[in-house]
Amino acid sequence: MYDYDLLVVGSANADLVIGVERRPGAGETVLGSDLAVHPGGKGANQAVAAARLGARTVLLARVGDDGHGRLLLDSQRAAGVDTVGVLVGGAPTGVALITVDPSGDNSIVVSPGANGRLTPQDVRAATSLFHASRVVSTQLEIPLETVVETVRNLVPGSRFVLNPSPPRPLPAEVLAACDPLIVNEHEAKVVLGDAAGVSDDPEDWAQLLLAKGPRSVVVTLGAGGALVSSGNGVTRIPSVKVDAVDTTGAGDAFTAALAWRLGRGESLAEAAAYAARVGATTVTKEGAQASFPTAAEVAAPGSGTEG
Ligand code: RIB
Repeated sequence: MYDYDLLVVGSANADLVIGVERRPGAGETVLGSDLAVHPGGKGANQAVAAARLGARTVLLARVGDDGHGRLLLDSQRAAGVDTVGVLVGGAPTGVALITVDPSGDNSIVVSPGANGRLTPQDVRAATSLFHASRVVSTQLEIPLETVVETVRNLVPGSRFVLNPSPPRPLPAEVLAACDPLIVNEHEAKVVLGDAAGVSDDPEDWAQLLLAKGPRSVVVTLGAGGALVSSGNGVTRIPSVKVDAVDTTGAGDAFTAALAWRLGRGESLAEAAAYAARVGATTVTKEGAQASFPTAAEVAAPGSGTEG
């Protein structure tokens, strides 16, 4: 019996968000909206998204001993995340500078701050959390060696989920542990490297990614839905059509929902279909964590327009 449905090992950022009519080019200045400061970071977002859906969730992360760190801790606790694994100090809290355009698309620059000080030793010191968790999930806003140590501390029987964002080439040891590896098209190309040039068909990317070692793969395609594969061909998961206001954090909510539902025993296709509904609900509201739905708020299958 596990104490937690999900252990998230990952980043926590203060999101400094400005709405813009269009993004500035190099050397250009544009005026934007008033500044909004939201709790964010791909790890912290995953933890809040899972907890809000009802998952018993614990976060292993590092924040600074500052106002942004307290904002993040407050948000985790309000969502019901166990913050026993959140370490404080060593550097200022990570910050993400985010612009959002009228279509809801965003551009993000992250200053890792304390996220860069989440060390392999911090992972080893949290062994009890690994033993207590059914699923472990991470991303790449923390040092790669910390992700490698996360994989090395997995307990037999637990499941590992990775969204390699921001993307970089991954060691075979990490790829082999993923079940699934979750990538968007951009991340797929980076992880595949030269092999991405073989085809511009995402179905081929799913197969090529699988050949690199993960036990299963999910390729998210935005309005095109998602592709899932665990070896027996590729299954397409339809998208849920909504009017996007702000896409920030949608990928994190998708990953969290998928990880939680897999831990409950759903198939990859079932879990991805549920995660697509969570992601779609998320983009209809501003901000990352503020936009994550409860299970009751997630649209029932068929209530949106599937495409
Ligand atoms: O995935 C969205 C997140 O990316 C934002 O909350 C921001 O903090 C960056 O990490």
